[in-house]
Amino acid sequence: MNKFKYTTIIFLAALIAGIIPAKTGSAQQRQNNMREHGEMQTMVEDVHSYSNPQMIKVSHVDLDWNVLFDNKMLRGTATLSFERAANAENAPLILDTRDLTIEKAETSADGKRFTPTRFAIGAKDAILGSPLTIELPAKARSVRIHYSTSPNASGLQWLTPEQTAGKKSPFMFSQAQAIHARSFIPLQDSPQVRITYSARVRTPKNLLAVMSAEGNSRTAARNGDYRFNMTRPIPPYLIAIAAGDLRFKRLGKRTGVYSEPSMIEKSAFELADTEKMVEATERLYGAYRWGRYDILVLPPSFPFGGMENPMLTFATPTILAGDKSLVSLVAHELAHSWSGNLVTNATWRDFWLNEGFTTYLERRIIEAVYGVPRREMEATLGRRSLEEELSDMDDRDQILHVELKGRDPDEGFTGVPYEKGALFLRHLEESVGREKFDGFVRNYFDSHAFQSITTETFVEYLNKNLPASNPKVSRADIDEWIYKAGLPGNAPQPRSDAFRKVEIQAQNWIDEKITAAAIHPENWTTQEWLHFLGSLPRNVGTRRMSELDDAFRLTTRGNSEIAFQWLLMAIRNNYEPAYPRLEEFLTTIGRRKFVKPLFDELAKTPNGKARANEIYKKARPGYHPITVATVDEILKWNVSQT
Ligand code: BES
Ligand code: ZN
Repeated sequence: MNKFKYTTIIFLAALIAGIIPAKTGSAQQRQNNMREHGEMQTMVEDVHSYSNPQMIKVSHVDLDWNVLFDNKMLRGTATLSFERAANAENAPLILDTRDLTIEKAETSADGKRFTPTRFAIGAKDAILGSPLTIELPAKARSVRIHYSTSPNASGLQWLTPEQTAGKKSPFMFSQAQAIHARSFIPLQDSPQVRITYSARVRTPKNLLAVMSAEGNSRTAARNGDYRFNMTRPIPPYLIAIAAGDLRFKRLGKRTGVYSEPSMIEKSAFELADTEKMVEATERLYGAYRWGRYDILVLPPSFPFGGMENPMLTFATPTILAGDKSLVSLVAHELAHSWSGNLVTNATWRDFWLNEGFTTYLERRIIEAVYGVPRREMEATLGRRSLEEELSDMDDRDQILHVELKGRDPDEGFTGVPYEKGALFLRHLEESVGREKFDGFVRNYFDSHAFQSITTETFVEYLNKNLPASNPKVSRADIDEWIYKAGLPGNAPQPRSDAFRKVEIQAQNWIDEKITAAAIHPENWTTQEWLHFLGSLPRNVGTRRMSELDDAFRLTTRGNSEIAFQWLLMAIRNNYEPAYPRLEEFLTTIGRRKFVKPLFDELAKTPNGKARANEIYKKARPGYHPITVATVDEILKWNVSQT
């Protein structure tokens, strides 16, 4: 221990004295090139990473993990192979970490014999975590780090058996996007650093582990020893693991679903169109390049709707509506196999390249599989929610190429990259015609496959490849869409006949021309319900809330999206009969998209705030660290209250 401390101090002193060059993050470094696989890859400044990939670039990570449920930790090794730029012989390797316990670091020149080396962990930044600086001998080509994660790792959630559907086995899963991979792997946690990975994972014997990679989970004996291999270079935020009592069910020739045993039939029914969606996307944008496409349906504390982990989308169980009405989420995560996983945002400023393209593709998949009317309904809902959000949003957050310096990328994410991004692409499609635009998008994916690119690179490619002669896609037009706040005047306006009928009914009911009983929504889809509820004013009053509830039994709806809209209205109108359902919803579902607006709304009044605190006390132990951070902020909870 003493010796370890001593060498660390010497090493730190050397760093400070400038004997070992540290990353300066200076402007000259921004466009530094390095030779790699025979081609030049430009590294840009990433304000969310401490790493120095312009000098040393990690290319492969080999993981060896024990999944320790009793300690709520992953423990083992990460072996990183890297390439060094010609001028970086003396540079140390700088990795991103958060709350990791590093036991030992070793280096190797041949990947076989490893010898210990010095390392130092820098001060912890609340957003970025701590840099881990590892000293490298000139010949070193790989480093092995022995470490364990914290029970509070921001990128992992550990569920007790009671928190699962089956109640018998524990469950764990990761969520690395945007900058949480560093809380379970020491690595260069920047989306421009593409890596392949391999893993050996040991779990308790009766459990199954799955990862975002090729593996033996579908067929393996449940012996608690699993192996994985991701052979295509991916950004670190796509590394993912889950372990629990999981079953697999086949959906199509290369598609399937994993979930807890009690959810598997329901999941397979809901997701039955998955193979069709893959085929439809291939017809539009070229071959699916990842082999299998499986979906893991997680417990309800999963903080997102879905996460596009390659080969294995992670999904919330709140999409299991029983009628396939919420499967646009699958279309979305699948679309990321082209926009996001194949062509990746180089930094989180360029996030709209991932999500705008994906939301645009999602709607194209929905159109191909379910028809134009469904696409237009979903596009209308998207545009309306964007307009509502824009109405009270800082100008700087309304820009697609958003400035995130000094900010946590988790808090910076809004509907702008998704819906404004998708409208921009639809605008381009409508301007140049679908045929030309489809060809453009397909070539864009092919020519940037397995690369991470910036907004500037995209704009350059766009200006080169879409006719500048078209006045609607002039440089000025493109600049307005990407670099300015607000929604440009030429933003496409989706149209839905079904929605117009719903609006008329809603208006007649608001004007008290008809009663709720006269509305006849028997054949309404989920989207029409959402549009109806969204068309009502913020304040309808408790009398009219009960009228709706009596007619349509909204408080007992199982569809999560409809329930969420209704509960939001219930809070705004102080509609007491829905409060038990609100409490049930918030204590059983941890999806941030639902949880955040409900707590935001409750926090607006003193009574609501008291209720929020009471509910949160019960809900918090079951929430994921990401959702906890969000709600702690809304309700001003701090560690002393927990
Ligand atoms: N990649 C995102 C989820 C994400 C974004 C996680 C940023 C962490 C940081 C995923 O593809 C996504 O957008 N999910 C949406 C659903 C989608 C249908 C809009 C979600 O989780 O709500
Ligand atoms: Zn997405």
